[in-house]
Amino acid sequence: MTTSTRIILNADTIPRVDIDFMNNTHVEEIEMVKELGKLVAAYQDSAMPTISETNEITQSLEKWLQHTEAHFERENTLMREINFPVYLVHSGEHEIALDQMAGVVKAWQDSNDIEPITEYVFSLWPAWFNSHVDSMDMITARFAVMNGFDSQSTPHEQDL
Ligand SMILES: [Fe+2]
Repeated sequence: MTTSTRIILNADTIPRVDIDFMNNTHVEEIEMVKELGKLVAAYQDSAMPTISETNEITQSLEKWLQHTEAHFERENTLMREINFPVYLVHSGEHEIALDQMAGVVKAWQDSNDIEPITEYVFSLWPAWFNSHVDSMDMITARFAVMNGFDSQSTPHEQDL
């Protein structure tokens, strides 16, 4: 994969939704993926990656997976709290995305094959994330605020 085909999302250009905690989580995630992207690009360009380079990618992927799990759970909690009518559609997208991410991380842990990681980090995930934020998250946040949820608050069911 050449550099020109790498998609790197930017905090300034991803769609913003009507609720602050969601935007904050999205920005955190984008920063995290940017760091991971640097590690992946260096790994890919290296003729013989070291064990420590390999471990860094593993740790970065594990951290990202945990962050994503918490991110999705927090949005699911919000949706339950506001009785979001299409909860199952939005939470269903989360479930599929999380399963896919967990599969990619597991495959890396088993094989240390950088190609599927490269494709995921620089292509599949950015495309998914941008369109998910622009659709599901956008509609959920708008619905929440229209139904009285304070845009600066966080869901109550969960300790955040
Ligand atoms: Fe979402």
